[in-house]
Amino acid sequence: MKIFVSRNIPGSALDKLKSSGNEVKISEFDRPLTPEEFLEGAKGADAVLSLLSDKIDGEVVEAIGPQLKIVSNYAVGFDNIVVPELTEKGIVVTNTPSDEVNEAVAEHAWALLLALARRIVEADESTRKGAYKGWEPGIFLGVNMIGKTLGIVGMGRIGEMTARRAKGFNMRVLYNKHAPDPEVEKELGVEFADLDKLYTESDFISLHVPLTDETRHMINKSAFAKMKKGVILVNTARGPVVDEGDLVDALRDGKVGGAGLDVYDNEPNINPELITMENVVLTPHIASATWEARNKMGEQAVSAILDCLSGKMPENIVDKDVWQRRRT
Ligand code: DGY
Repeated sequence: MKIFVSRNIPGSALDKLKSSGNEVKISEFDRPLTPEEFLEGAKGADAVLSLLSDKIDGEVVEAIGPQLKIVSNYAVGFDNIVVPELTEKGIVVTNTPSDEVNEAVAEHAWALLLALARRIVEADESTRKGAYKGWEPGIFLGVNMIGKTLGIVGMGRIGEMTARRAKGFNMRVLYNKHAPDPEVEKELGVEFADLDKLYTESDFISLHVPLTDETRHMINKSAFAKMKKGVILVNTARGPVVDEGDLVDALRDGKVGGAGLDVYDNEPNINPELITMENVVLTPHIASATWEARNKMGEQAVSAILDCLSGKMPENIVDKDVWQRRRT
């Protein structure tokens, strides 16, 4: 069968695909594909290993052809795929959630939180420029984490792992999800809060919701208005959860004291004002970029394809209902 991989991935997972007896085509470009290039590569494929930069809907899979059986997305998030349109056609969609990825993202959220609290990037830049002339009482004053409140918006696995680390810093943790989770409260000593309370009482806010119609631009002007002055905001979830224009305004007028962003409203474009701001730390969507996480993602994405093509139900199907009426 034919398998199209839309970009080379780190690690050795693709070797397994190549030695599986299938015809494997890996994109020749080491960059995100244009829609035309994606289609050209994927046309006629039975399976596609896609990246979050590939936009895939009913029309795209129609153009790939009736033989397409699975789209295996090399990411936990699958907002680049219109899953119901693929499910309706009997195409299996899988993703790559794992402890390795979740831990990596939680660790990155913490890297951004600490970088902002202790002004690491600003201080590094200044030191490299030769500005350090000896110990000074008042340079780069930051804030302690101990005793502060961390608000976690979205308490799935990554939110929980982020919360667990906060306990090590002796912080109070508020969390928001669709309904209170007594088990998590008992295990982690965290407190459920509606969004208004979380915004009002948090010194740090870390976002861990998926991108949906409900969460798109949920962090906007009206949310910022409720937040504490000087709050530090970290986003390792999806860029469009935050209205970037409103964030720039909130940073400019000091309502938000610092922002740590790994994801952007319109990737790979970044609001140019954010780039000029010293109290903003920017990373290029690398929260899951550890060897452990990416190896696991590769293994999962490849196994999903091999399982599906051999008639075995893959582990991480996004909408499991598709399995009964999948294309064979
Ligand atoms: C994911 O897995 O959804 C990340 O954003 C990319 O690794």
